[in-house]
Amino acid sequence: MALKFPVYPPSRYGGGTEPVKRPKEFACFSYDKDHKFRLDDSSLKWYYPPDLGVDLSRGSDTFIQHDDSIDEHLDSLLKTIKAYEEQTGEPIDAHVVTWRGMLTKIMAAPFDDEAFEMNATLYRGCIFIEEHHGFKEQKRQMENSRTGQRILPSLMQYWGYKFETLSTLPRPWAETSRDYIENRDQEVVNNKEQYCSVVRTGFGKSIVCLGGEVDAIWDAKPATPGDPINWVELKTSAEIRNHNDQFKFDRKLMRYWIQSFLLGVPKIIVGFRTQDGILSRVEEFRTMSIPHEVQRRGLAKWDGNVCIRFTSLFLDWLRRSIDDEGVWRIRRRQKSDFIELFKVEEVGHGSIITDEFMNWRIKL
Ligand code: A3P
Ligand code: MG
Ligand code: MG
Repeated sequence: MALKFPVYPPSRYGGGTEPVKRPKEFACFSYDKDHKFRLDDSSLKWYYPPDLGVDLSRGSDTFIQHDDSIDEHLDSLLKTIKAYEEQTGEPIDAHVVTWRGMLTKIMAAPFDDEAFEMNATLYRGCIFIEEHHGFKEQKRQMENSRTGQRILPSLMQYWGYKFETLSTLPRPWAETSRDYIENRDQEVVNNKEQYCSVVRTGFGKSIVCLGGEVDAIWDAKPATPGDPINWVELKTSAEIRNHNDQFKFDRKLMRYWIQSFLLGVPKIIVGFRTQDGILSRVEEFRTMSIPHEVQRRGLAKWDGNVCIRFTSLFLDWLRRSIDDEGVWRIRRRQKSDFIELFKVEEVGHGSIITDEFMNWRIKL
């Protein structure tokens, strides 16, 4: 029997505000150019404005693309948490551990009809949540066959990564040659490389540990750990030509806002492009101001406070419901009025928690 948590109507979650914590980074890790895990910030990038008028399609034939058909579970996040716990000598105090992407789906649910599936397991008082990878793959194949797209990268996806390469430096500006800055258009685009921030944050009574990629930093990390970091999120979007484009963009801003809110990214830089992928202008958005800005225009109807309150109550419910070992499925069918929760494995933790992490926790 599945337990159900209502999603609609969003007005259910209106009215009040929930206490939220400011996300604080307490650890980080990188994937290098071969997507090899490194317990450091070596893949951090610095923002430096791109040249305009560049063709975002350029170099798509040499794109080095990460194969995301392989299920990476929570492995890198758990490695990073383990290393942190080795330092402090105690387990982290989170009630929930997951990737930022999972919480993005939850937060967006009241205003979005997207289907999703996740696996969750309770281990030593904490719920670990991963994406149900098989479902994601299935969904992607269905979408590909419907739109007739190849499984290979669509050009539009390349544009997103190309924009990142055009807007960042692998070292701070002062240590970067003019030659590099002027020739970023010739750099090979590689999305295997990533910097991931691991933060402690909170929704209502739930303490949440999230891992997620950040695209770049504006200046430098602050000297005091836990101080806000001037992260930059990079996005590309089609130029806004009319009312309908603005509506679509304001809907997209919800995802941008949620994604950045969750890791405490204060600034989003959008590279606007023509229909055929020429970078025409960049615009900076303050994450904090986005919900109000969208509400003021009144086109797309979403409410950031509802997203927060919904997530907070959902996490309360999840923590009350997952009270036993085994693997649980969190599922939302497309356009469904509720999120379902049911057990898929009676015992153990599936592949959500690595042996390495469990062996470490046993020692602790
Ligand atoms: P854009 O966001 O500019 O389209 P992120 O913005 O999260 O840093 O991701 C960088 C790029 O990865 C995106 O650039 C897009 O090209 C690709 N991408 C991210 N999420 C995606 C998704 N769910 N489906 C397809 N492409 C995605
Ligand atoms: Mg990114
Ligand atoms: Mg980005």
